[in-house]
Amino acid sequence: MEDNIHAQRKNEHYFIAEKLYQADAHNGLDQVQLHPDNLPELALADVDLRTTLVGQPVNVPFFINAITGGSQQTTKINQQLATVAAQTGIPMAVGSESIALKLGTTAGFEVIRQANPDGFVLGNLGAGHNLHNARKAVRLINADALEIHLNVAQELTMPEGDRSFKWSANLREIITHLEQPVLVKEVGTGMSTTTLEKLRRLGVKYVDLSGAGGTNFVAIENERRHHQDFGFLHEISLSTAQSLLLAQDFSHDFEFTASGGIRSALEIAKCLVLGASNVGISGQFLHILIKHGPDALVTYIETLKDELRNIMVLLGCQRVSDLHQVAYTLSPELWSFKQQHQNN
Ligand code: FNR
Repeated sequence: MEDNIHAQRKNEHYFIAEKLYQADAHNGLDQVQLHPDNLPELALADVDLRTTLVGQPVNVPFFINAITGGSQQTTKINQQLATVAAQTGIPMAVGSESIALKLGTTAGFEVIRQANPDGFVLGNLGAGHNLHNARKAVRLINADALEIHLNVAQELTMPEGDRSFKWSANLREIITHLEQPVLVKEVGTGMSTTTLEKLRRLGVKYVDLSGAGGTNFVAIENERRHHQDFGFLHEISLSTAQSLLLAQDFSHDFEFTASGGIRSALEIAKCLVLGASNVGISGQFLHILIKHGPDALVTYIETLKDELRNIMVLLGCQRVSDLHQVAYTLSPELWSFKQQHQNN
C-alpha cells in the first residue's frame, strides 16, 4: 500500500505535524482566568469525571481526536493509540477513512478494534462523502459514532486538494439517516457563528469547534507545496477560546466538543467552563507518542485525569456539568472579542 499517493500523504501529515509541533502555540485559553471556590465542601474522591460525547455517556471528558490511518507507518500509530485508549478507557477517533474507501481495502484500520474491541470509537470522513460511504466508514471499525470534518482551508492549501465545497446536501443526508451520532468538526480553523447557524439548520447536534492554536493544517499542507505560500489562509481562523465564546450563543442547539492546541488539564477545565461537554486532543498526544512511546502516553493521560480532579475540587465542582457554572474573567482582548459578537 506504500506506493499509493494517499498513503504517502498520510505519512507526510503526521511527520510534518510533529516537525511543526509547538508547545506554546496560542489557543487563547491563557486569556481565561478561572475563579476558585475556597470552600468547596468536596473530597477529591467525590469528583466524577463522567460526561457525554455525541450524547453518549463516557467516563472521562477528554479523548484522542482524529489523527491518522491508511499507511503502514500510520497503522502502527493507530495500533498504539488504540491500545492506549483501551488501557486508559478514553474514547478515540481515527483519522480519515477515505483512503480505505478509495482503495476498497481495510487499509490497516482493522487494528483499531483488534487493539480496543470494547472502547468508544469514532470513525472519520470528509464532508464530501455520501451516506453510503458514511455507513461503510462506520462498519470498517464498528464505530460508535462518526466524525465528519469540514476542512476548507486545508483542502485549498493542499496541492491535490478539493476545489469545490458543496457539502450541505451530503451532510444533511448523513445527519438525517445515519444510525450512529455524527460529530461535525473542523481541523484547526475554528468555527464562526455563520457556520454554527448553517449547521443548526442542517440538523447537526454535535460539533467539535477545533480552533486555531494547536495543529495548523494550513502550515502542514503549505510545507507540502512547492510553489506559492498559502500560509495567509490561517489568518482567517478563530482560536479555540474565541470559538468557544462564540458557541455560547448556541448552547441550547448543540453539545460542544472543544479541541485545538489542548495540552494540559487546566486547558481542558477552561474549555469545559466555557461550555464544552468534552475535549479532543490530537497534536499533543501524537507528540508524546512519537517522542516517548505508548507507555508514556498512558502515564500522561492518567496524570491529566488526576490533575483535572484536583482542579475540579479547587473550582468546587463535583461533576463536569458543574464546571459550566464556574466564574471566570477574560483578558481585555478576549472580552472585547466577545463583546463585538454578542448576539449578532
Ligand atoms: C489531524 N486532524 C484530523 N482531523 C480529521 O477530522 N481527520 C483527519 O484525518 C485528521 N488528520 C490529522 C492528522 C494529524 C497528524 C493531526 C495532528 C491532526 C485534526 C485533529 O483531529 C484536530 O481537529 C486538530 O489537529 C486540532 O487539534 P490539536 O491537534 O491541536 O489537538
